[in-house]
Amino acid sequence: MRPWMVAGNWKMNKTIGEAVELARAIKEGTAEVKGGEIVVAPVFTALSSVYGVIKGSQVRLAAQNIYFEEKGAFTGEVAPGMAKDAGCEYVIIGHSERRKYFHETDASVNAKVKKALETGLKPILCVGETEEEREQGVTEFVVGLQIRRGLHAIENVDGITIAYEPVWAIGTGKNATPDQAQEVHSFIRSELDKLYGPKAGSLRVLYGGSVTADNIGDLAAMNDIDGALVGGASLKSETFISIITGTAKKRWS
Ligand code: PGA
Repeated sequence: MRPWMVAGNWKMNKTIGEAVELARAIKEGTAEVKGGEIVVAPVFTALSSVYGVIKGSQVRLAAQNIYFEEKGAFTGEVAPGMAKDAGCEYVIIGHSERRKYFHETDASVNAKVKKALETGLKPILCVGETEEEREQGVTEFVVGLQIRRGLHAIENVDGITIAYEPVWAIGTGKNATPDQAQEVHSFIRSELDKLYGPKAGSLRVLYGGSVTADNIGDLAAMNDIDGALVGGASLKSETFISIITGTAKKRWS
C-alpha cells in the first residue's frame, strides 16, 4: 500500500503567530503517528516561520502555489526555488480556487508542475469537476482531461501526488460519499496506469472537499483513497490531528 498523506491547506488564513502556534500543536500531537506523511500549507508570509517549528519533525511544509519562472519581473509571484528556500518540500498546484479566481489553466498548471519537479519540489496536483459538470455526467471527461493536460510531457512521476477535489464539495460541508469518491479515484488510477504503467503505482491520490474528523474513516477505508487534502478542518489542531490519526488507522496495517 502507498504511504498515506494528509495535507492541510490553510488557504488565506492565519497570521504568522497563529500559523506557528497551529504548526507546533500539530507537530506535538502527531509525534507518534507512523506510516505516512503529514503536510501543512500556510500562506507565503508564514512559510519560513512555520518551517522553523516543524524542521526535523514528521510534519512537512507545502506552498499553496508557485510561479513557473525562476526569477525576474513578475510582480507578486513566488518562484519554486524561493518556496524551497523557505523550507517547502511540497507545493499545491491547480487548486480549484486558483483556477476559478486567478484564471489558472491546465497549461499554466502543467508549466508549474514541470517547474516544481525541476526544482525538486513535489507537486500536489488538484483536479475536480464542478456541480454542473457532475450533473451533466462529464465528471470523468473533465477529470481525465485535467490529469492528461496537467501531466502533459512529464515522464518522471516520482514525488507527484494527485488530489481529487470535486469543486461542489470544497468548503460547502457537502462531501462526496465514500462510494462517489472511490469511483472517481479508481478512474484516476486507471488513467494514471494508462499514462505511466507500473510507475504509476507510487502516485498517491488524495480526496479533498469537506473532509472532517467524522467522515475521514469511511473515506480512507476506500481502496483507492490514499489520504486527504483538508481545508477548513485543518485550521484547528484537534480536528486536523483526528483526521490524521483516522487516516493512519485505516491506511496502515
Ligand atoms: P475544505 O477545502 O476541506 O474546506 O472543503 C478543501 C480544499 O480546498 O483543499
